[in-house]
This record gives sequence, structure tokens and C-alpha cells, in this order.
Amino acid sequence: MASEAFENAFAVLGRDFANAGRVSTAIKDTLKGLGIHAPIVRRVAIASYEAEMNLVMYASRGKMRLTVSSEAITIDVDDEGPGIEDVSLAMQEGYSTATPEMREMGFGAGMGLPNIRKNADEFVITSEVGRGTRLHIRVNLLA
Ligand SMILES: Nc1ncnc2c1ncn2[C@@H]1O[C@H](COP(=O)(O)OP(=O)(O)O)[C@@H](O)[C@H]1O
Ligand SMILES: [Mg+2]
Repeated sequence: MASEAFENAFAVLGRDFANAGRVSTAIKDTLKGLGIHAPIVRRVAIASYEAEMNLVMYASRGKMRLTVSSEAITIDVDDEGPGIEDVSLAMQEGYSTATPEMREMGFGAGMGLPNIRKNADEFVITSEVGRGTRLHIRVNLLA
């Protein structure tokens, strides 16, 4: 039997604030439908929401891929965008380059990436300036 029980990919468009949050909601509903333990769903939902909002705010377009196996839930995010010049700076709590308009919408606390790291068992972020950013987020199903 294949170890990947479930896989689904979603497209996300930069600046599309009207639809922002829909993919992370779809991911959350999918996991609930699969009967995943609620605290695990919650961690994945927080991490995928923050990843989706960053893609919408800072990138042009991208994809989010959900994989559910018997061992873990993984979210892989791959965007086309400006990338991040200093990833360790971007990872710091409170660091944000959000515009005044984004801050008016309630974004820009600089807690998104730190919250992804907190909620994930494994978090890998790689970025290439002028190309885009990739996130690998894994939440384990087994202790
Ligand atoms: N996908 C991305 N593409 C380009 N820059 C990003 C991306 N995700 C995050 N960043 C950069 O990292 C910073 C910190 O992100 P985050 O912790 O989510 O805080 P916030 O979204 O509130 O600014 C952002 O302000 C931005 O400069
Ligand atoms: Mg953010």
C-alpha cells in the first residue's frame, strides 16, 4: 500500500485579498473530514493560514500542496515572488515589511513565520531573491 494516503494541490493568487484564506479553510475542512484529531487540525490550520496570507501579501502566485500520510500532515508552499533576502531576520518575532494598507487590514504583526515554526514539528523555509519562496511544514500524527 502506498504511504501517501491523500494529496491535494491548491493555487493561490497574490494580492487576491477577496479570496485570501480559502485554501487554508479548504485544508482545515479536508482534515476534519478525514477524521484527523482536532488539536492536529488546529496546528495545521494556523500554519497554513499564515503561509497562505504571506503568499497573498508578498508573492505573485503560488501553490500549496497538502499531503496526508499515516505518519504526518505536510503542507508544501511554493511561490513565485520577490523571495526573502534575510530569512533569519524574517523569522524573528515582530519583523514585518507589511505596507500601511496591509496593517490597516490587520496584518503585519510579524508573527506569521514564528507561528508556523511553533505549530510545526518540522519547518523548512528556503528562498531565492527575485524567484520565490518555499515552505515545508510537517505536523506529525504519531507521538
Ligand atoms: N512568501 C513570502 N515572500 C516574500 N516575503 C515573505 C514571504 N513570507 C514572508 N515574507 C517576509 O517575511 C516577513 C515576516 O513574515 P511574517 O512573520 O509572516 O510577518 P508579517 O506577515 O506579519 O509581516 C514579511 O513581512 C515579509 O517581509
Ligand atoms: Mg505573515
